[in-house]
Amino acid sequence: MLTLIKNIKELVGVESTPQLRKQGKEMAQLETIKDAYLLIEDDKIKAFGTMEAESGEWKAESGADLVIDATGRMVFPSFCDSHTHIVYANSREHEFVDKIRGLSYEEIAKRGGGILNSAKATAAASEEELYDMAWQRLEEVMRLGTGAIEIKSGYGLSTESELKLLRVIRRLKETSPLTIKSNFLGAHGIPMEYRGHQEDYVDLVINEMIPRVADEGLADFVDVFCDQGFFTVEDTARILEAGIKHGMRPKIHANEMAVSGGVQVGVKYGAISVDHLEQMGDAEIECLKGTETMPTILPGCAFFLNLPLSPARKMIEAGLPVAMASDFNPGTSPSGNMQLILSMACIRYRLTPEEALNATTLNTAYAMGVSDEVGSIAVGKKANFYITKPVPSYEYMPYSYGENKVETVFLNGKKYV
Ligand code: NIG
Ligand code: FE
Repeated sequence: MLTLIKNIKELVGVESTPQLRKQGKEMAQLETIKDAYLLIEDDKIKAFGTMEAESGEWKAESGADLVIDATGRMVFPSFCDSHTHIVYANSREHEFVDKIRGLSYEEIAKRGGGILNSAKATAAASEEELYDMAWQRLEEVMRLGTGAIEIKSGYGLSTESELKLLRVIRRLKETSPLTIKSNFLGAHGIPMEYRGHQEDYVDLVINEMIPRVADEGLADFVDVFCDQGFFTVEDTARILEAGIKHGMRPKIHANEMAVSGGVQVGVKYGAISVDHLEQMGDAEIECLKGTETMPTILPGCAFFLNLPLSPARKMIEAGLPVAMASDFNPGTSPSGNMQLILSMACIRYRLTPEEALNATTLNTAYAMGVSDEVGSIAVGKKANFYITKPVPSYEYMPYSYGENKVETVFLNGKKYV
């Protein structure tokens, strides 16, 4: 099947020489082609170039099975959302109101709300119900331009419940056109019955959960919420070691509440990403230099909880790569809208539109280990992209926040919206 998109006002995020990620000054590089064509064969990108190019393959129009005229519209690589928790049963707007009235996220967690509130409702839901709810959320983010997504467990917090969540993610992988990676986050919260002896819960994660998850091949990654009031650096090191032994690459929740040591322990164990980073000192930036770990900022969480902003500019100026993901979850970021994350990247973190686009596509693809197959428009990559409504320029994408600028969605070479 050959599909041709022609008369594209501007084809954005092109890579003639594909890279796995962009760091420091490279983050400002964004290749585009004006008045372009894009040719797709089956599920992959076959060619692209200018409409004018004499030898342009678009002249194979007569051989194309589907031709789309994109006059006035732009084409972008799909967003990659490398950090979400979309398998959950209940919303948490009552805690949202408690926060407005003055309670902090940690105070709510201490009294058994927060993650434990979600875990209670999620334990009561069936696999089928959780699948249906997560499917709706996937549909919603697909319409907003997301083409690849990482999904964490972590609202189970018992062996059976964690397995249930991961099986839901497996079924989503099998049935959804999105590229999906699964992450085992058994160490997300400390169940009430383990308060005061949390090392016993860590033992359960290590001795029972991780081996069962590995036996069923349910997780690509292992994650820990390494932060003040949650899991310690020692807990984290033990869990990551066990995960690695069972073939799961680490990712970390770190430095949301405090400078937790999470960045350092993540880097030590070769984490593919360390995420949140609202609390970053110079030592954390220094420690990330020259490593394979992607610093990942979650602007939706900082916005929703009114947290300090991660020093994104400082990290880029220090030569680091930066990725930005949604953190879609019921407690700290109840939205998976990556167009909004793109806007926040520019408005709140002072990234340029070029940097922000790289942070939400190629670098997030790297943060879930799929930047060789998605995250940019490159020959041989999956044909995952969206066509915009008529827009004046690519800078308009972060500028016009709150409006869905996506008109048509292609995933694996097929039109879904
Ligand atoms: O990434 N920080 C830890 N985990 C989630 C929040 C989970 C929740 O509050 O339900 C996050 O922000
Ligand atoms: Fe998270």
